[in-house]
Amino acid sequence: MSAETKQVAENDANRVTVFDTTLRDGEQSPGCSMNLEEKIRVATVLEEMQVDVIEAGFPIASNGDFEAVHEIAKRLKTSAVAGLARATTKDIDRAWEAVKPAKHPRIHVFLSTSPLHMKFKLQMEPEAVHQAVVDSISYARNLCDDVEWSPEDGTRTEKDFLCRCVESAIKAGARTINIPDTVGYTVPEEFFALIEMLRNRVPNIDKAVLSVHCHNDLGLAVANSLAAVRAGARQVECTINGIGERAGNAALEEVVMALRVRSDVMPYHTGVKTEMITKASRLLSAVTGFTVQPNKAIVGANAFAHESGIHQDGMLKNAETYEIITPESVGLTQSTLVMGKHSGRHAFKAKLAEMGYPDLSDNALEDAFQRFKDLADHKKDVFDEDILALIDDSVVRTNDRIRFLSLQVVCGSKGPQTAELELEVDGQTQKATAEGNGPVDAVFSAIREIFPHQTKLQLYQVHAVTEGTDAQAEVTVRLEEEGRTVNGQGADHDTLVASARAYVNALNKLLLKRQRTAPAALSA
Ligand code: KIV
Ligand code: ZN
Repeated sequence: MSAETKQVAENDANRVTVFDTTLRDGEQSPGCSMNLEEKIRVATVLEEMQVDVIEAGFPIASNGDFEAVHEIAKRLKTSAVAGLARATTKDIDRAWEAVKPAKHPRIHVFLSTSPLHMKFKLQMEPEAVHQAVVDSISYARNLCDDVEWSPEDGTRTEKDFLCRCVESAIKAGARTINIPDTVGYTVPEEFFALIEMLRNRVPNIDKAVLSVHCHNDLGLAVANSLAAVRAGARQVECTINGIGERAGNAALEEVVMALRVRSDVMPYHTGVKTEMITKASRLLSAVTGFTVQPNKAIVGANAFAHESGIHQDGMLKNAETYEIITPESVGLTQSTLVMGKHSGRHAFKAKLAEMGYPDLSDNALEDAFQRFKDLADHKKDVFDEDILALIDDSVVRTNDRIRFLSLQVVCGSKGPQTAELELEVDGQTQKATAEGNGPVDAVFSAIREIFPHQTKLQLYQVHAVTEGTDAQAEVTVRLEEEGRTVNGQGADHDTLVASARAYVNALNKLLLKRQRTAPAALSA
């Protein structure tokens, strides 16, 4: 948050602070892990979108988490950067170390307060929990001015105890009190009453910003967050596309657009640049491989599609008949024809800069340009989405140990399906021919022949980047090895080439992960 925005937020009683936890709670969910470069890209877009606070990770969780929070803290200029910590000095020190370089650092400390969590998870008596709240917040405040405290499982916490802990946390220096509905259990009326109760009963509540963090187990995360805002909460924690533990967290785009579109009944506002919503949503889907369901509010492929004749007729007469949000307000513009096969390097570079990639390395730019030329030879119209898919596929490839070179596949109903593959491994060209149960299986077998490894294929997913039979395929491959999961992406006008690229991308990420956790285990 810039000093100016911060001032506005502080002075404006109806301004809701948007705290994005895509990179922490979102990334925690199975299959959503991102590598350092991907986290930096997401954080950069979130900042561009003017999200107030970005929770970049849980620094004590792993060296990778620490590194990501630290790197993001160094790079961001306007958004505050938060690091999560349990209520221990070790966690808080690590979180502080990670967020320290940020212009606006925040430490977010949490501790369970519900009877169930205290007894079974913490195995601590309430008195000891209360003391740990005071001690941990005091400790964190000695390091950092901006400290947030969360009573985990807040909605199932006994009310007197919740009030007592919140009051003590504020006394100890917490500036934001975040009430999590950790298990997505509450309903709007109940959550409204809980926030109202805290505002009425905690004597020093006006010294802190009340925040909420809702999970979506009953599909009520957004409704609960909005109820809390109406009751006086002024920070909402959320994630892009609603990703997060189990059924996910409140979706940022839904909270922000509900407040914008229904400001007549909810006179509150955020600082989010809503025109960036589509870009952020697509980027997250691309890096995690978590595609958005077509009928998802705001960012689903059908969110602005009108199929029935009656609706189409109404839309033609007046768009407001069936459209409460304009596609432009969330950054969804008509696909534009961008370039053709005669476009040169300069025009391509300018186009990339316009699309938010001004500083690709020379190698990545050359790779993307060659692939654009190849695509333009095969595809009549090249759209923004095509270029984005190529960039997603080429941008972080400079340190890859394994590179895709070529693929020839024989397939069809007569079988057997055979793949002839060429990869470059550590600078050496290697070839293999393999058969499989279908062409994709043959391609993946050929990869395993060239680079033997034991991983579990958890997900194989294809989607068409644009419409038409000449559309590029964007493939996601998720591999798992000893509890580590990675998503790889590949795009090409040939689905099998895209599949090989996606698998190779996942494999490179896995090797990087192995290297980060165990330097000795580098060979396949
Ligand atoms: O859901 C939860 O309780 C959390 C806390 C750490 C805020 O994610
Ligand atoms: Zn959570």
